[in-house]
Amino acid sequence: MSKQQWKPGNMVYPLPAVMVSCADKAGKNNVMTAAWTGTICSDPPMVYVSIRKSRFSHHMIAETKEYVINLTTEALARATDYVGVKSGKDIDKFKEMRLTPVKGTLTYAPMIEESPVCIECKVEQIMELGSHDMFIARVVAVHADEAYMDDRGSFDLSKAKPLVYSHGQYYGVGKHIGKFGYSVKKRTSNGKKKASYLKKKSK
Ligand SMILES: Cc1cc2nc3c(=O)[nH]c(=O)nc-3n(C[C@H](O)[C@H](O)[C@H](O)COP(=O)(O)O)c2cc1C
Repeated sequence: MSKQQWKPGNMVYPLPAVMVSCADKAGKNNVMTAAWTGTICSDPPMVYVSIRKSRFSHHMIAETKEYVINLTTEALARATDYVGVKSGKDIDKFKEMRLTPVKGTLTYAPMIEESPVCIECKVEQIMELGSHDMFIARVVAVHADEAYMDDRGSFDLSKAKPLVYSHGQYYGVGKHIGKFGYSVKKRTSNGKKKASYLKKKSK
């Protein structure tokens, strides 16, 4: 297999395309799409969103030090794209896309009711990296839609049909391949997979 070498660029794909909701201190809400986002620490739970200074959302998040990462779904694909190409400078994107702002635990930034998972964040550090400023934040609360929980309270995000963004295109999630750790689990006589540490214990 031969590979072409390209000039340095952003090629970590696929990614989630999330809707980041925020507000200013006067109470004006806004929402924008972000793909430059992710988890950076488990404990304490920390995330980031990288935002250009030119985005209307930028000054709001810098002012209140709050944002909400709202996960998106196939059903929210159109809204996700729309809030990523139109600016809150000109229009009320919540209204245009019939998204419902709801109050969570933060003082200013609203959550999006229609999102399956809303992650409320408080900014701890802003890193000016170049084109984008990285808003490093602590997760202060997570709100998960009960519609995707079973009787025992287990949450199944796949039921929400998450939206994936890859190199300029939106996709749904593909077929299920395995569970975390499946590569090291051994098969039992009934064909089911068993963790190797359990096998040793049962000897
Ligand atoms: C799929 C997608 C991903 C995007 N990711 C980012 C991002 O990570 N950071 C950013 O600054 N802008 C990103 N944008 C662009 C902003 O969402 C867009 O400029 C938006 O209109 C800004 O809204 P605002 O001016 O109301 O804040 C993305 C747009 C799309 C469609």
